[in-house]
Amino acid sequence: MEWNNLKPQVAAILSQNNLDRDAKLKNLCQFLSDSISYYNWVGFYFADHNTKTLHLGPYVGAETDHTIIPFGKGICGQVAESNANFVVPDVAAQSNYIACSFTVKSEIVVPLFVNGKNIGQIDIDSHVIDPFTEADERFLEFVNQEVAKLF
Ligand code: SME
Repeated sequence: MEWNNLKPQVAAILSQNNLDRDAKLKNLCQFLSDSISYYNWVGFYFADHNTKTLHLGPYVGAETDHTIIPFGKGICGQVAESNANFVVPDVAAQSNYIACSFTVKSEIVVPLFVNGKNIGQIDIDSHVIDPFTEADERFLEFVNQEVAKLF
């Protein structure tokens, strides 16, 4: 994967100043899904720290019933509390997991920090087992640093 070729395109998508934030994030999700073959569902969840819930934001991929996820539940909810990346090579091996579709085999969630606060996350599902490496983590950390500039 030519990660360094993708980075300037991520920055360009997020700086299209005729679009609002959600439209930029949706375009970003589409770009990531189109560019990386094993990124089969790409979306953002945003935290409500008062109700301790995550709320689905822009995404591309199969429609999901999981538009609100309590902190602590599933991979996403755990990242809301841990503030750490969560790479799941095989979702079948996770007990605290919220299944969206039987086609999903693996997942990566990387928290989104704005001024040091975990305000949400990027969530990616894959149809293949164990596709994510440290390079995905570093790349998605870069993506979220760029996204953080919109807040
Ligand atoms: N699998 C996630 C739920 C969200 S969907 O992947 C879109 C989880 O366990 O938190």
